[in-house]
Amino acid sequence: MPTPLVIDTDPGIDDALAILLALASPEVELALVTTVHGNVELPQTTDNALRVLHLAGRSDVPVAAGAAESLVHPQPERAGHVHGTAGLGGVVLPASPASVDPRPAVVAMAELLLTSPEPVTVAAVGPLTNLALLLRVFPAAAARIGRLVIMGGSAARNGNVTAAAEFNVWADAEAAQAVLTSTLPTVLVGLDVTLPTVLDEEDIARFAAGPIGAQAAAIVQQYLAHARATYGTTGVVVHDALAVAEAIAPGTVGTVRRDVVVDTGLGFGRGQTLVDRRAVSSAPTAVEVAERVDSAAAVEFLVSRLASLDCGREETRS
Ligand code: RIB
Ligand code: CA
Repeated sequence: MPTPLVIDTDPGIDDALAILLALASPEVELALVTTVHGNVELPQTTDNALRVLHLAGRSDVPVAAGAAESLVHPQPERAGHVHGTAGLGGVVLPASPASVDPRPAVVAMAELLLTSPEPVTVAAVGPLTNLALLLRVFPAAAARIGRLVIMGGSAARNGNVTAAAEFNVWADAEAAQAVLTSTLPTVLVGLDVTLPTVLDEEDIARFAAGPIGAQAAAIVQQYLAHARATYGTTGVVVHDALAVAEAIAPGTVGTVRRDVVVDTGLGFGRGQTLVDRRAVSSAPTAVEVAERVDSAAAVEFLVSRLASLDCGREETRS
């Protein structure tokens, strides 16, 4: 039986690849996509989620819109300069025939969690506003989450949006603090394992042949240009796809149980995840922090699955 999966997301280039990866993976059944503000504004992240699902022929998957803003302090800036002003690298995908689900994201998530006979995995790959709201409004539903896999934070890799903070945690630090100090069974997939996991142009070419892969490859181009200009690299870090790979295949990353808190101050450290690496934690609020990854294996997992979406035969790398 495939595991029911919810992706909470702010598409977003790497979010789009993460959604496509889930659709290409028989281990999971994508039962719900919930959207959140983040890379771009909520209406845009929601429309992008609908369009990505439609691209893969899965406009049957419900999309429920969530929080348009952070819990306490407005997010200082969006990430249009990284993901493109519309969030998909300048690519305009065909509009979906499906409408957004009329339920708010937390209601849709709660209903699924309270009715699912199987434990549900939730992959949160945007700011954690919706998850924090779920914890406060529907605690009984939140308690039924089988696994929560978060793309966010970093233990020893500094930040990406600031010197201290990774974007998803920084975008809603108070929400991240609430979620990362809860007792939800959480895996934190942060920059320590996403930054070394790079998709290069050769990898992208391996899934770009078919109609779905070609659009995915086109979406990634903006990320490539940003990476080349910012880091001088010819590869892209698809943060969210690695987190969803862990949601699909537990053990993709190696974790250690750690206590994690978030700097919710308004100073230079805002949004920093402070991971206590002095010891393995036995606290019920501890988090499985990803500290190791076989990046080559993770990239192969992602590329081969994306290529399978077009039902083409994936030529193994010589
Ligand atoms: O720091 C990486 C995260 O920020 C990813 O979720 C990416 O989509 C951006 O939102
Ligand atoms: Ca994201």
